[in-house]
Amino acid sequence: MSKIAVVGSNMMDLITYVDHMPLRGETVEAPSFEMGHGGKGANQAIAAARLGSPVVMVTRVGDDTFADATIANFARNGIDTTHVIRTPGLPSGVAPIFVEPTGENSILIVKGANALLAPADVEAASDLLKGCALILMQLEIPVETVYHTVRWAKENGVPTLLVPAPALPHLDVAQLKDLGFLTPNETELATLTNMPVDTEAQVEAAAQTLIARGIGTVVVTMGGRGALLVTRAGTQRVAPVKVEPVDTTGAGDAFIGAFAHFHTQGLPVIAALNEAARYAADSITRRGTQRSYATAEEFRTRFPARGTAGRD
Ligand code: RIB
Ligand code: NA
Repeated sequence: MSKIAVVGSNMMDLITYVDHMPLRGETVEAPSFEMGHGGKGANQAIAAARLGSPVVMVTRVGDDTFADATIANFARNGIDTTHVIRTPGLPSGVAPIFVEPTGENSILIVKGANALLAPADVEAASDLLKGCALILMQLEIPVETVYHTVRWAKENGVPTLLVPAPALPHLDVAQLKDLGFLTPNETELATLTNMPVDTEAQVEAAAQTLIARGIGTVVVTMGGRGALLVTRAGTQRVAPVKVEPVDTTGAGDAFIGAFAHFHTQGLPVIAALNEAARYAADSITRRGTQRSYATAEEFRTRFPARGTAGRD
């Protein structure tokens, strides 16, 4: 079965559910709090693993109790932890998150050990990475490590996908020219291209400039409005899946992890994206980040007509 790798982050999510956000200097009581595993890289890995893909995680944890819990969580989900590296003297990454009654969130990240994931760590995992059908990356690790991985993957014939989040103003698109997939949201697309993204035509035009610079496929994610798949051949629409939002935290990661799973399982890109949109929407109906990601069986139960390959 096709293996997926994540070269990316892990965080402990500290989620406070608020009635409203406090103003500066204000103390506000919030109804509830939950701690759970998160981090964009780890989230994508867990989504793919829950759906049944074999997953390799290349990441750095600190030397605190969160590190032990994170490694145990990967292992529990069947993820290969050979390259989950402990980093002496540093804390693990944490993310204080605030979720409002609308299900929308605000996130702070403190990278901790994630800031030390280096090109050498990727090299050390190269034997494992060579056997992978897709490498997923995000921007919660040093950007040099992302550039290095893109180059390494090109040389070794391994397809890649980068989620350019959190948005990084000085991301060097020239270093990404060998990427297979780039999946910005509209804000990230605007940051990457310095182009307006107010209309769909503008979004398409901006995405096409990235393709002209060598990136294979651009998927523009638009939250509750679905996504656009932009290739040299043109644009296709990924329809939104309407649900009652409870907690949107990690829905974008669920989308990418699920896309990686369905695509490496053989679904064409557009079909895999549509399946991924259903998987992400489902996660929004429950609290928590990874905690809200369905297993393959749960997903099939919730989307009985659609949960199988080739339905689109
Ligand atoms: O994308 C959601 C994730 O962003 C959270 O899990 C948090 O850890 C931050 O990395
Ligand atoms: Na959720």
